[in-house]
Amino acid sequence: MNGSQSEAAGEPTVRSAESAVALRPHAEDAFAAELEALVATDDRPRPARWRLSPWAVATYLLGGTLPDGTVITPKYVGPRRLVEVAVTTLATDRALLLLGVPGTAKTWVSEHLAAAVSGDSTLLVQGTAGTPEEAIRYGWNYAQLLAHGPSRDALVPSPVMRAMADGMTARVEELTRIPADVQDSLITILSEKTLPIPELGEEVQAVRGFNVIATANDRDRGVNDLSSALRRRFNTVVLPLPESVEVEVDIVSRRVDQLGRSLDLPAGPDGIDEIRRVVTVFRELRDGVTADGRTKVKSPSGTLSTAEAISVVTNGLALSAHFGDGVLRPADVAAGILGAVVRDPAADRVVWQEYLEAVVREREGWQDFYRACREVSA
Ligand SMILES: Nc1ncnc2c1ncn2[C@@H]1O[C@H](COP(=O)(O)OP(=O)(O)O)[C@@H](O)[C@H]1O
Ligand SMILES: [Mg+2]
Repeated sequence: MNGSQSEAAGEPTVRSAESAVALRPHAEDAFAAELEALVATDDRPRPARWRLSPWAVATYLLGGTLPDGTVITPKYVGPRRLVEVAVTTLATDRALLLLGVPGTAKTWVSEHLAAAVSGDSTLLVQGTAGTPEEAIRYGWNYAQLLAHGPSRDALVPSPVMRAMADGMTARVEELTRIPADVQDSLITILSEKTLPIPELGEEVQAVRGFNVIATANDRDRGVNDLSSALRRRFNTVVLPLPESVEVEVDIVSRRVDQLGRSLDLPAGPDGIDEIRRVVTVFRELRDGVTADGRTKVKSPSGTLSTAEAISVVTNGLALSAHFGDGVLRPADVAAGILGAVVRDPAADRVVWQEYLEAVVREREGWQDFYRACREVSA
């Protein structure tokens, strides 16, 4: 009663420490204990301003057990060499470009790299068709500017400018969506390591430790292709789709487990069969052929990525927790699968129906799943 009264009076109240936990903590906060344990045991050389050695950064991403017994959970599941190349790049004077199809963990890896290297993943520019130059260089506080003219006080630094001044990692998401002329403002920053401020006759010089991690979507290529001048400033690391069903099931189970805990869903899902099914369906539709290589299937228009499988399973777990018996069952994931597969109501529905009848229906042990899918597809 108390809470609603004060809300009615327009006074937002913080009810308890627990209700004030961030819905999605930054990597450096969510994994603060692991990062601290790494800092404490890491005795390898660290590049200037790095919180950890390159070796420890790679361990943070790929997981491992420290000499003192601390377990570091794997954040990224994939080829070790890719992570080593990515981390090493950040210690050179070239920037890092993570490239791949949607849902291959580009954003995720970029956040964790920034958290491990600089202890801060929040110096972030979100790239869109409308990203202005100010988001990469600097803007002005117009009240200050009009009252007192151009000065350092009136200048609003971009995340990139702050990273340069402090020797930190800046992140640029979806670089290729940014208009070409705005992208080009990164060239001077990355090649000369300086950001001129002509209005003040000054510049901000990058200090050691500064670097940039950009992400870009394979499918956007051609939209605003990177100029060759800019491309030369980056080392490109391509993040692949998971190589096998087993690896993808492993990724999905881990992430679902983490997400389930942060959403307070009851622990211990015995849903590994259902997870395997979601992953199998997504992979077969993505690849255009069944897992045994025997039957060709058509691919729907949407990207059925690992990220989508994670979200279908998480939603399914929530359904089973709140409205089922707490065990993940076919009916809990069927609607989610349908939603992910059928993006275009006409064409994708045909693709899905064909797959359902030709593949799912005939598969041994999949009868419950077939019925659940039929029910939501009708
Ligand atoms: N190989 C992988 N290892 C760990 N997590 C992965 C992997 N592939 C995908 N994910 C998960 O997928 C989710 C979405 O990834 P995201 O970084 O948003 O993809 P992208 O930016 O490439 O579109 C993340 O929660 C991430 O944990
Ligand atoms: Mg992304």
